[in-house]
Amino acid sequence: MADQPTVSKSMELYRKAGERIPGWVQLISRRAERFANGVSPLYIESSKGSRFIDVDGNAFIDWTRALGAIILGYADPVVDAAVKAQIDKGSLHSMSSSLEIELADELIETIPSAEMVRYTKGGGEACAVAARIARGTTDRDIILFCGYHGWHDWYQSANYLVDPDSGEYPFAGIEPIGVPRALAGTAIPFTYGDLDMLGRLFTEHQDQIAGVMMEPARSDRPEPGYLEGVKELCKRNGSLLIFDEVSCGWRESIGGMQKVLDVTPDMTVLAKGISNGYPMGAIVGSREAMEAARLMFISSSYWTDNVGLAAALTTIRELKARDSEKRLKEMGEQAARAIDGAVQSAGLTGTCTGFSTTPNLNLDLPDPDLQPKVFTLFIQEMAKRGIHGYMGFGPTLAHTDEDILITAEAAEASLRVIKQGLDNENIDELLVCDTRQEPFRRLVH
Ligand SMILES: Cc1ncc(COP(=O)(O)O)c(C=O)c1O
Repeated sequence: MADQPTVSKSMELYRKAGERIPGWVQLISRRAERFANGVSPLYIESSKGSRFIDVDGNAFIDWTRALGAIILGYADPVVDAAVKAQIDKGSLHSMSSSLEIELADELIETIPSAEMVRYTKGGGEACAVAARIARGTTDRDIILFCGYHGWHDWYQSANYLVDPDSGEYPFAGIEPIGVPRALAGTAIPFTYGDLDMLGRLFTEHQDQIAGVMMEPARSDRPEPGYLEGVKELCKRNGSLLIFDEVSCGWRESIGGMQKVLDVTPDMTVLAKGISNGYPMGAIVGSREAMEAARLMFISSSYWTDNVGLAAALTTIRELKARDSEKRLKEMGEQAARAIDGAVQSAGLTGTCTGFSTTPNLNLDLPDPDLQPKVFTLFIQEMAKRGIHGYMGFGPTLAHTDEDILITAEAAEASLRVIKQGLDNENIDELLVCDTRQEPFRRLVH
């Protein structure tokens, strides 16, 4: 078995963070308990291309892509040059810069359904703006949603609709503390794919539904006709359809998942991959859906920041120039084939599923309850071999054939450890860390 990398500096920083920063980190997905705690790196010194060096000096190939925010690769030279040039011209002026209009034109040209544009600095924030616009435009209160849309009150209030003892909160131990109870019932979850359920909610709350917010697809294509059905329900009821493309946008298609699935919403929320690691979010939509936003209080000082605008403009143009759609698919398919091969060589069964740009390994296990432990063991063994990630292998444009080769070799060795643990029924003994916490529930229902 490979030697355990030393992450002692990471662990010490995390201990200090615990004393100073409630919740340790700024994004729940970066918490130690989400990885192999004690083996996985927690603090990074520098990242470049597809790799990073942690504070202990260990080098890793990274498949988490900064939780989806990186698409071209870390510290992309072209985006960074545009950002540095913009810093020299000033990151924030007293008045707006023409970059706002230039980026608006680029987004309108790129995203089907985009006629008007607003900006933010992050994804959850952009979702909150979209919810505000939907409510303001329709003069209605209720948002129906499925999936994850950030930390804001409008969305987290849905947790009050859940029985506290059901274990159905988005993340174990993080309840909607601090979210006004008065908002309960103003955002209601539905199950992705269940058109009847959505129809029932529209009937129950007739003339009160401002909009439906959802990811058009996350890991797989929807059933034929499903999104068209959602759109038809919205249209019939005078509600706005909002696609949250914060995570799924850009990778399958530069125009967003809506282009791949050929269903256009009234509004679309974008962030993360839009700007390759610089803070930026956008809400785009039809004139009809968005024009009334000029009457609403939607305003923040740093939404004018030029660094994010320059980063987004350059990222979108670079995606187009580098033929990203074709390249990300090819690399994703290559990664999936290599990982599938590793599964076979290790004597296990399982396969990568999902969109070709974001393949995800699913192992067939003798008992599904073993999944959290096996998942943790995989992260642990991969970390020992210099690979940082979960069980997903979605590439950035900076990932190389060599990265895939090294990752597949590490996966084969890690999966052999899992096979041994399954055969000997001693997975617990092979784990040198606590079982990672279950991912927070993207579907409240
Ligand atoms: C679909 C979706 N919406 C919204 C968000 C929130 O974005 P941010 O973390 O930038 O606030 C995320 C983040 O994971 C997301 O995946």
